[in-house]
Amino acid sequence: MIKRVLLLVGLLALSPMVMAQGKRLHDAACLQCHASLTGGKPANLYTRNDRKVKTLASLQKQVKGCAIVADANWTDAERESVVQYLSQTFYRFK
Ligand code: HEC
Repeated sequence: MIKRVLLLVGLLALSPMVMAQGKRLHDAACLQCHASLTGGKPANLYTRNDRKVKTLASLQKQVKGCAIVADANWTDAERESVVQYLSQTFYRFK
């Protein structure tokens, strides 16, 4: 099971289609609330200096929590595509 999840994550990280899916899901479910929190600049939440998320593990946790708030009802793979999108577009963990 763990191996399958790792394989899945590895494959997802490589796929531009997954990134596109992650962006689509994210923009539909997440943008509006974040925009209202940031005066209309939702990306600032992920790029501000004092952002909360510092690691991939905490990003996964935050997306999981926010997906519940957003009532997103995603599969694990869909949620992971959003994690990949945010990770590669904004967080770029070293
Ligand atoms: C109903 C409002 C709401 C919705 C919908 C929402 N979020 Fe959030 N999100 C928040 C709040 C509030 C914070 C914390 C902001 C703070 O600490 O300043 C946050 C923070 C975050 C952060 C951490 C930002 C940082 O500081 O590094 C991530 C990542 C995130 N949300 C992802 C998502 C994703 C993915 C979705 C869509 C499933 C989503 N959010 C939907 C309210 C929301």
